[in-house]
Amino acid sequence: MVKQITDKLGRPIRDLRLSVTDRCNFRCDYCMPKEIFGDDFVFLPKDELLTFSEMERIARVYTRLGVKKIRITGGEPLMRRDLYKLIAALNEIDGVEDIGLTTNGLLLKKHGQKLYDAGLRRINVSLDAIDNELFQSINNRNIKADTILEQIDYAVSIGFKVKVNVVVQKGINDDQIIPMIQYFKDKNIVVRFIEFMDVGNDNGWDFSKVVTKDEMLAMVEDEFDIEAVEPKYYGEVAKYYRHKDNGAQFGLITSVSQSFCSTCTRARLSSDGKFYGCLFSTVDGFNVKEFMRSGKTDDELQAKFEELWHIRDDRYSDERTEQTVANRRRKKINMNYIGG
Ligand SMILES: C[S@@+](CC[C@H](N)C(=O)[O-])C[C@H]1O[C@@H](n2cnc3c(N)ncnc32)[C@H](O)[C@@H]1O
Ligand code: SF4
Repeated sequence: MVKQITDKLGRPIRDLRLSVTDRCNFRCDYCMPKEIFGDDFVFLPKDELLTFSEMERIARVYTRLGVKKIRITGGEPLMRRDLYKLIAALNEIDGVEDIGLTTNGLLLKKHGQKLYDAGLRRINVSLDAIDNELFQSINNRNIKADTILEQIDYAVSIGFKVKVNVVVQKGINDDQIIPMIQYFKDKNIVVRFIEFMDVGNDNGWDFSKVVTKDEMLAMVEDEFDIEAVEPKYYGEVAKYYRHKDNGAQFGLITSVSQSFCSTCTRARLSSDGKFYGCLFSTVDGFNVKEFMRSGKTDDELQAKFEELWHIRDDRYSDERTEQTVANRRRKKINMNYIGG
């Protein structure tokens, strides 16, 4: 039986985000800058990562409290060996209604079929440009946009429902919005443009690098005949629009200009097994991995998860919006990188 819990601000828990690795085969400047994540960077040793059976157990206990959706992320989740085994295990849990994966897409041809066979159906592919050279300069691994587009076509061909996510940075890739809308409109694939956020320790963020949803919308309206789509569910983070001619949709995610903390129903587990109630948490998360490895029962784990959710009062993006949009400046806040 589900005991639906709410946090300090009355928000239920619905989603669990599991970061399955801290490693990545890209070095996007705003996420894992190559100057910091160089050849000598020490990633987590294997025993510091949650095992698949630990993740399955965490997910199972969370479903008792209302979690219905699970998203696998990273680092680059397709770099975690045998990821399909985790998908298969999560798929078996009563109460899990939806499993999604966020990936840079590079390894989809290699692992996609096994993931599909294990029960995964939904994939979000991050692709910040459709221009090859520009994309190479963003991922810092010389990977062309065409390579990822081929992987996306492959994923669609074997049955995945694919969405594409683009983090928009002013002066860097905002000129990609129109060509990407055109490309994915023709393919009838949903592409979503995300306002650049100040995640991580040092991604060079400031408000002047954000292209707001209103600015993006104005650009798109100049080129395409579109109409707004009604939200599909409580807490939906993207605002969707439909092309009037062929019905294809795209989305805008207003993480900065119109934050959505008030409907945030997500719990996050970092790759080293810590709980975070917010992508922008400033304090070190509770160490769920150590807690489990000290021999706790499922009931004790459930009680801990309840406690962690009951004290959750994070509304970082709202606070930032109040500062950035009202005052066009914000106080510097130090944050730990906890995964996307
Ligand atoms: C951290 S990545 C992990 C999964 C996978 N490697 C990928 O790139 O999709 C998850 C998502 O967070 C996004 N992201 C990372 N840093 C961001 C930032 N500063 N602002 C907005 N989105 C960001 C990425 O573009 C990606 O879509
Ligand atoms: S955004 Fe994703 S692909 Fe890019 S460095 Fe971060 S984890 Fe890797």
